[in-house]
Amino acid sequence: MALNPTSIYFITLFFFTFYFKSLTALTNSSFNFNNFAHTSRFDSLISLYGDAKASNDGLSLQLTAPFNSSAGRVIYKHPVKFYAGRSKKLVTFSTNFSFSVSSGDGNGDGLAFVVVSDEYPVDLFDKNGSFGIGNGGDLKFLSVEFDTLMDDKYGDVNGNHVGIDLSSFVSLKVKNLSSVNLGLNSGEKLQAWIDYESNSRRLEVRLSKFGENRPVDPLLFKHIDLVKIWPENEGFLVGLSSYNRNSSQLCNVYSWSFNTRRSPDWMHSEPLDPILFKEREENEVKNHKRSDCVMRILSALILGVGLGALGSFIGMFLWTIFSKRQPISPEVYAAAAKPVVLDKAASANVKQ
Ligand SMILES: *[C@@H]1O[C@H](CO)[C@@H](O)[C@H](O)[C@H]1NC(C)=O
Ligand SMILES: *[C@@H]1O[C@H](CO)[C@@H](O)[C@H](O)[C@H]1NC(C)=O
Repeated sequence: MALNPTSIYFITLFFFTFYFKSLTALTNSSFNFNNFAHTSRFDSLISLYGDAKASNDGLSLQLTAPFNSSAGRVIYKHPVKFYAGRSKKLVTFSTNFSFSVSSGDGNGDGLAFVVVSDEYPVDLFDKNGSFGIGNGGDLKFLSVEFDTLMDDKYGDVNGNHVGIDLSSFVSLKVKNLSSVNLGLNSGEKLQAWIDYESNSRRLEVRLSKFGENRPVDPLLFKHIDLVKIWPENEGFLVGLSSYNRNSSQLCNVYSWSFNTRRSPDWMHSEPLDPILFKEREENEVKNHKRSDCVMRILSALILGVGLGALGSFIGMFLWTIFSKRQPISPEVYAAAAKPVVLDKAASANVKQ
């Protein structure tokens, strides 16, 4: 296949544009706290409400105090936009935090990561609601609860579970932590990862003991189409909230990071049939890993082809320049100009 340098140039340009467009995942909301020392960065990024305060050594945030009915929360000050770019595409987001919950006497609620509208009254605590979050009326929220209280009202499985909640503390999906040998209210430091991938509309939750690696498989996951729930132009607050109810449960947070990013445009979108998708959800863990792998191979291929094309373009360009300087050998022409001599038999055949 013969390609002239111009077409190679355009092919190269196309691949590069395509490749880098998909890589430039713009981060528009991001922060990372490895401690909570009182700095200007702290003040400009996060706010504390209720009983929440930074410990004197700055190593933790104490969301609740060791007395009954203590509630506190930390909120990222800047409302997060969950849609990015001109196309208003839903973003992918991730949060990661380390925390501990000590039982005290009796059980409090534990800890919840929450996403609420920026109109939510962050300084108010609903002591009838879980984690101090008022869920009366039509409050819309997304939450991942690290729940240490068996609350019959919400159909809780036990006093040691993680749940994914959408505008109700009756969880959409729960995981009994006792079954995976994790205890929330032991006072032990734990680490949680919550990731929402916008193309697959999948929320994943991971939990491990502090210092252990991020688990490969999520503890639980759920397909949630946030586009149907969150309006395009609204800002949202993200935070960690705790309420110890009728106990002296202490909840500490040691680190917290959050980021949103635009997911690559070329990645597959949500399948058209959501029911089918739901049925396949259970099998998805494996497939998800596989598609991750396919994407990586595809990216590498695209980059390879792009670089190859660029290389051949440069090569051909240089060859064109340097080859033009060499005089064309007259012998070539002389040879080409020689009349073709047919042997006698052949000539005879032609004549007949
Ligand atoms: C949770 O897991 C523990 C340990 O496997 C088990 O004893 C308990 O019955 C489970 N609870 C529920 C509600 O399934
Ligand atoms: C709170 O706890 C105390 C002591 O454990 C108990 O006497 C009281 O009834 C509890 N109150 C509520 C509202 O559960």
